[in-house]
Amino acid sequence: MVDTSDEWIRQRTGITERRIAEDDVATSDLCIHAARWAIKNANIDPLDIEMILVATVTPDTFFPSTACYVQKGIGAKNAAAMDLSAACAGFLYGLDLADGMIKSGRYNTILVIGGEVFNNIIDWNDRNTCVLFGDGAGAAIVQATDEPKGILASYIGSDGDYAEAIDQKRDKLQMNGREVFKLGVRLMPEAAQRVLREANVSIEEIDLLIPHQANLRIIEAVGDRLGVPREKVYVNVDKYGNTSAATVIIALDEAIREGRAKPGDLLLFVTFGAGLTWGSTLLRL
Ligand code: ACO
Repeated sequence: MVDTSDEWIRQRTGITERRIAEDDVATSDLCIHAARWAIKNANIDPLDIEMILVATVTPDTFFPSTACYVQKGIGAKNAAAMDLSAACAGFLYGLDLADGMIKSGRYNTILVIGGEVFNNIIDWNDRNTCVLFGDGAGAAIVQATDEPKGILASYIGSDGDYAEAIDQKRDKLQMNGREVFKLGVRLMPEAAQRVLREANVSIEEIDLLIPHQANLRIIEAVGDRLGVPREKVYVNVDKYGNTSAATVIIALDEAIREGRAKPGDLLLFVTFGAGLTWGSTLLRL
């Protein structure tokens, strides 16, 4: 479709494979699948869920929200449901909101999902972007607990001055790759340091850094700037490409399955995306 090569993509992005949804698969289909797994793993009843937050920039429709389709798909009759748009930072935005809502005492159980199907917004004639993105979804159940674990610190931010760095022109995603690269390498370490300071935790105490999976060179640069050794930096961009709001929650799920993230571990998440938006979360598993 475009003038590119497997070698260029591997060298400049670190991506070797990705998943693209069939034409008749929508974001809500992937989100429902992920939500069912999360509900099963958390061993809860869908009726216990009080809020569904779906982070996505590729909703099935603007209304009803993708979250409402998810609600129907999983039978979470007692939940309020809504989407949130914060691009690649979306999942950590969702976690931050869920954390605040639970700490307010009004909610006990919140389903947070990050999911994307890029089909309709990728310009398949633009080699600068069409090689980067993949489809996927991940979900987490966030609940109140008395145990000394969970979200220790969370931070989200945005800067609309950079709105044009990644945006939708004539419905298609367009991006100034070089500018976004530089911004990501600066903003993600700053965001990560903020939650470390807030929780009074040193970078040496982190068991695993899970950064947004957009490009291997960005991931490595962020790890290096923070002083995290490569073996403590989680990477799966090679298998999925950039799944936007879904990257960090897919990465967490895989890290747990692979034994790279274990109960008691201290995990540091950091993301950035269109907006610009960014976020970081410090979490004791
Ligand atoms: N195949 C071959 N050549 C290509 C391709 C491709 N797929 N894409 C770009 N090129 C060319 C460019 O046209 C350019 O050619 P020129 O020198 O003749 O003009 C050359 O490669 C170098 O282009 P750069 O943009 O400098 O390439 P770079 O090494 O920076 O890699 C990339 C580009 C991969 C896009 C990188 O800049 C990047 O990863 N940026 C960040 C993307 C990102 O993190 N996005 C996350 C947010 S997305 C969201 O929030 C929804």
